[in-house]
Amino acid sequence: MTAIPNKKTSVTIRWPNGLISQATPGDDWLVLAKAAKNPIPTGCLGGSCGACEIEVNGNVIRACISSVAIDSSNCLQVEFANDPHW
Ligand code: FES
Repeated sequence: MTAIPNKKTSVTIRWPNGLISQATPGDDWLVLAKAAKNPIPTGCLGGSCGACEIEVNGNVIRACISSVAIDSSNCLQVEFANDPHW
């Protein structure tokens, strides 16, 4: 019998540099980004400065206090938030 993968436990992430990686809901964004050679800038690592803001499917999140969430498409497009002050 062949195991059928549970689609809800695997999320495809498309990074700004074109790399695609797989993640599991709850995975750390900063660790995933570093592994995908897209390190996310950081500052406070506590959710207050905004240096780590990224857009995930168009929604801005702070990567240092967020983790990969389940999306109905199981595909997350990441863009770096553009902030001229950083
Ligand atoms: S590093 Fe400051 S909010 Fe994430």
